[in-house]
Amino acid sequence: MTRLYRLPIASFLIMGISFFSTAFAQPNDENSLRFDPQKCTQKEITLPNGETIHYRAYERIYYVTNIEDSAYQFLNIYIPDNVDPTDNKTPIFLRTYVGGYMSAAAMEPSKNDATGRALQEGYIVCIPGSRGWDASTMTADGKKRFTGRAPATLIDLKAAVRYLRYNDDLIPGDAEKIITDGTSAGGAMSALLGTTGNHPDYDPYLHRAGAANARDDIFAAVCFCPIIDLEHADMAYEWMYRPTNGNERPLSEIQRKISEELANAYPDYLNSLNLKKEDGPPLTDKNYLEYIKTFLVESAQKAKDEQEDIPENAGIILMTKKGKETVKDIQIDRYLNYIVSKQALKTPPAFDQQGVSSEQSTPENCLFGDVSGNSVNFTLYSLRRATGNPQAKIDPELQKRIRIMNPMNYVQEPQSTKASYWYIRHGALDRDTSFPVPINLATLLRNSGYSVDFALPWNRPHTGDYRLDELFNWIRSITQ
Ligand code: DHB
Repeated sequence: MTRLYRLPIASFLIMGISFFSTAFAQPNDENSLRFDPQKCTQKEITLPNGETIHYRAYERIYYVTNIEDSAYQFLNIYIPDNVDPTDNKTPIFLRTYVGGYMSAAAMEPSKNDATGRALQEGYIVCIPGSRGWDASTMTADGKKRFTGRAPATLIDLKAAVRYLRYNDDLIPGDAEKIITDGTSAGGAMSALLGTTGNHPDYDPYLHRAGAANARDDIFAAVCFCPIIDLEHADMAYEWMYRPTNGNERPLSEIQRKISEELANAYPDYLNSLNLKKEDGPPLTDKNYLEYIKTFLVESAQKAKDEQEDIPENAGIILMTKKGKETVKDIQIDRYLNYIVSKQALKTPPAFDQQGVSSEQSTPENCLFGDVSGNSVNFTLYSLRRATGNPQAKIDPELQKRIRIMNPMNYVQEPQSTKASYWYIRHGALDRDTSFPVPINLATLLRNSGYSVDFALPWNRPHTGDYRLDELFNWIRSITQ
């Protein structure tokens, strides 16, 4: 009963590289994308509270017809036994395990994260695999061909969403209630799925992949520490962390210069977003640090209320109001140095490092790289610094791939269908990207009328799927 959609490896060996496009010509037709409700096994999971959940497992279901990588382009679906086969109301919790913009296998539910909990809550769980920058196949002449460079990961995940919609009549649950969840690069994928639904920019890729003919918008997006807005993340990082330079953050002379130049370039971008505070006034580089502080103060207050430890050197200013300790303010420079004292920062430029002050390539340099395995610069700043050519330009084809990987570009795009509900978390100790990155996403979404539950949880480093009670209370509130 296994679906044998694997690519015939041997046929690769006898094909020249120029025949690659034909290698993917429709090994299956769209009928092969129909879900088979009979093809399941019975499994169970025991959760941390000792409860055992029994569920039906539908595994290794290929979600595209033109499979380029049989190790990743399939999904698993898990349906709790108490969900009736005829059910058409149960939400579908779609968890991606993408990290570091690398390939992610389709996993089984885990008792240690939101997937196990989702089953316990009675939701259907879908875990798609997807190609990342490291995915490759072997060409006829024995060369590696990289198949997972941007936007492949997103295309695979969109294809998975399309599969669920295409089979909504056969798969129990409600494909109009898909809630995506991911952490870091996976959080970025969740944000992209939530902002780019059905946008024609992705159609050629989805068509080429042989994705099902169905919509790919989602109902809600859960984004833990999303690593997004890669074109501006270097600037944002230096703009925010500049006060730590030379203090907690030792930098060489050239790195200091890079940091300054990037930081100085950020206000123009920030101001171009035309963000607004919740009560209406514009947010600019002049009041933005104060705005960041409101989230940190809120975070510290919650920690105080829950009797969490707030160390002396975190820069929190307390006052006692009616016998209760209240967080009055935060000294932002002290707080930033406190973060850096816990974990060294990335060196500038934090994301687009290749060839700049002799840094290695980052996951992001690889993400935007090409099929031959080369990684590339994706910001004008780093490209010009790396090449020494102040006139250097980003290739238009690359520019397009960069643009379609940034959810910020789609929040106000009329041609995409957005998720209505957003749950965005970025740990108050997370230095993998700077606070403005998730704050801008949350603010732009709020300004555009979407419902956003956003926080910088106290003492959290770069991690996800925590405080599951809070997360699943939120999911209950938006699905009932
Ligand atoms: C991830 C972390 C990073 O710091 C980064 O630059 C990209 C991805 C991750 O954990 O997925």
